Amino acid sequence: MNILADKTILLGVTGGIAVYKAVDICSKLTQAGADVRVLMTHSAQKFVSGLTFGAISGQQPVTDLWQLYEGEKIGHVTLAHKAQLFIIAPLTAHTLARLALGMGDDPISATALSTTAPLLLAPAMEANMWQHPATQANLQTLMARGAYIVGPESGRLASGASGIGRMSEPADIVEHARTLLGRNGPLSGLRITISAGGTREWVDPVRFMGNRSSGKMGVALARVARDQGAQVTLIYGSMSVAPPLGVRAVPAIRASDMLRVTLELLPETDVLISAAAIADFRPVVTHDTKLKKDTGAGIQLERTPDVLKAVGERRQELGMPKLVVGFAAETSDLLQNAQRKMASKNLEMIVLNDVSATDAGFGVDTNRVTLLTRDGAVESLPLLDKETVAYHILHRVRGLLGRQSIGWSPGVGSVLP
Ligand code: CTP
Repeated sequence: MNILADKTILLGVTGGIAVYKAVDICSKLTQAGADVRVLMTHSAQKFVSGLTFGAISGQQPVTDLWQLYEGEKIGHVTLAHKAQLFIIAPLTAHTLARLALGMGDDPISATALSTTAPLLLAPAMEANMWQHPATQANLQTLMARGAYIVGPESGRLASGASGIGRMSEPADIVEHARTLLGRNGPLSGLRITISAGGTREWVDPVRFMGNRSSGKMGVALARVARDQGAQVTLIYGSMSVAPPLGVRAVPAIRASDMLRVTLELLPETDVLISAAAIADFRPVVTHDTKLKKDTGAGIQLERTPDVLKAVGERRQELGMPKLVVGFAAETSDLLQNAQRKMASKNLEMIVLNDVSATDAGFGVDTNRVTLLTRDGAVESLPLLDKETVAYHILHRVRGLLGRQSIGWSPGVGSVLP
């Protein structure tokens, strides 16, 4: 279920102060179930001992080109063939240059030459080194060969100065690793648009009508769809979590924004999943200035557009999306209400949420849903974390599309957003 589980990931660590962050990357990948094999340069070992990485990953790091591994095999050769992804973090200007030249006299550069796994590079160095034309030219060379680059970011550097050169955060590097590993997944080639979060309808410049949605369910769907290779667009309202890396994120704060953005994206949407809690009412008038208390408390409301109803009408003429999935936030007559919504909104599937529960629905990390499809099938899932719920929903989407896994071919590398 988790894209990192059982994947063999090489983590090349070169000598910079950010080696301490590489320990966190190693830990995050290992905890997610990946088989992490660490390779270190001599300079990296001056910052953190190989023992630390060995203890965290459960595997002895490769620190020498001729180190034997798993019996009598040569470490870098064995690992190059096993790897599904090669992350080098931190990557110094020196090793970056060596990779660009195609050198192979240390475990990291030799493995980079021998492996066909994608390379995910996280440079970290002083700003002047990063901006030096030699470094930039080397970077272009590596990207032209298909390497993926994450960072560096701006901030405080080892010298104490501020500037560009900080290694990206471990959590972001792990997100990019997930994205790269998932590219040839079962949803590759599919364009999925997901709405998430709650809408806000403005009363005046400081007040709004909103709801309890945190966006966690929609973000989990976006992440899992991305991990399975889909090209994901997230239309998001008010959320307590950030959109995941590797998805296109489009803000839409009012119901009318959700409607406009969703309709604009329909021609490029194969599957639409509407997880957003979209307002049903809005103030008739939005005041330009803050309402004073002596003007009275009465706010007149009117209906907002129903986004899924509008999609239902538009998809007839467009022939897109192929599949529309809605959510039903209910507190009573759960199944009947969900079934009615699936029919009236012309959906292939609806995800029923009992939003009166405290451990499921709005705001929490877990959810308990029932999946209903047009053919009358009803599947109730137990309480699960939202990513696992997302996995089940997307599994059903694949089934409804009658979809087989399709291949992926490596292209030219790029700087990751
Ligand atoms: N939805 C929508 N446009 C709205 C309101 C909701 O497209 N103005 C979508 C939601 O994203 C969800 C589905 O419709 O996928 C059902 O939303 P829900 O709030 O459960 O139902 P409503 O249609 O708002 O109906 P009611 O409030 O009467 O339950």
